[in-house]
Amino acid sequence: RNVRILGAPTDYGANRRGVDMGPSAIRYAGLTSQLEDAGVRPEDAGDLRVPHHATRDADAGADNAKHIHEVEEVCTALADAVSSTIAEGATPLALGGDHSIAIGSMVGSARDADIGVVWFDAHGDFNTPGTSPSGNVHGMPLAAALGIGDFEGVEWANAAGLREENVAIVGLRDVDVNETAAIHASDVTAYTMSDIDEHGITEITQEALDVATSGTDGIHVSLDLDWLDPREAPGVGTPVRGGATYREAHAAMELVAESGAMRSMELVEVNPILDQHNETAALATELAASAFGKRIL
Ligand code: ARG
Ligand code: MN
Ligand code: MN
Ligand code: MN
Repeated sequence: RNVRILGAPTDYGANRRGVDMGPSAIRYAGLTSQLEDAGVRPEDAGDLRVPHHATRDADAGADNAKHIHEVEEVCTALADAVSSTIAEGATPLALGGDHSIAIGSMVGSARDADIGVVWFDAHGDFNTPGTSPSGNVHGMPLAAALGIGDFEGVEWANAAGLREENVAIVGLRDVDVNETAAIHASDVTAYTMSDIDEHGITEITQEALDVATSGTDGIHVSLDLDWLDPREAPGVGTPVRGGATYREAHAAMELVAESGAMRSMELVEVNPILDQHNETAALATELAASAFGKRIL
């Protein structure tokens, strides 16, 4: 299959600067050759245009959603790129950037289809401007795409063909109090690191894939590199101890490939300024290769 790389070099959704260099770091780490090893044909469409400000007002944006106008601009462009990539028969692979870009990926992937989402993350990313402790939009993309709270009826942010019943979050270990309530009140399925400890990565990932594929046309896979333990992936803005191991992460991505259901994917939160010798970016390329079908033998 053809895989189209879409860079989204933005850090407007995060509090730590530098995650906008993620697409470059991931490319330098050898993304296209990893994808070729996976047996797919990669095509690099370059980077989306991200608005530039000479100075940056930390409080800019309305109602506890920092830089929401810039996030909207980037996500709208990404949504168009994702949906046209799919329409042309290729699989979009978006490179963040912070996790706010997922709003654009999901909106684009769910524009003309019913989709499920598997969300690999330490965090719930289920805040709304009304609940967020930080105002950072990278903590809100799932709530945004699902139209929860302040995001109800916000057209640019709501993913048309996505229902809560088809969303599975995998690897939670840092969830805000209000997020916990919102996740419980919703119909999304959430698996914590404790669930992985108890049942193993294979069983949990398979269940998550069942949730996302049930009655849908395909799935969006969102891989926040902070899903992994910071020992494996130090180059992220919001690291949390106790994450997925190298082997668990590859095992999960191999199951994604086996499902045959992936219609779009993103790699987010790689921050080369915080990284050690680009190893988090390199890990991201490896995991993408596993998700696109690379095998040991
Ligand atoms: N829950 C915190 C917040 O809302 C952290 C979110 C981190 N999200 C991420 N995509 N790294 O600010
Ligand atoms: Mn995260
Ligand atoms: Mn259990
Ligand atoms: Mn995230």
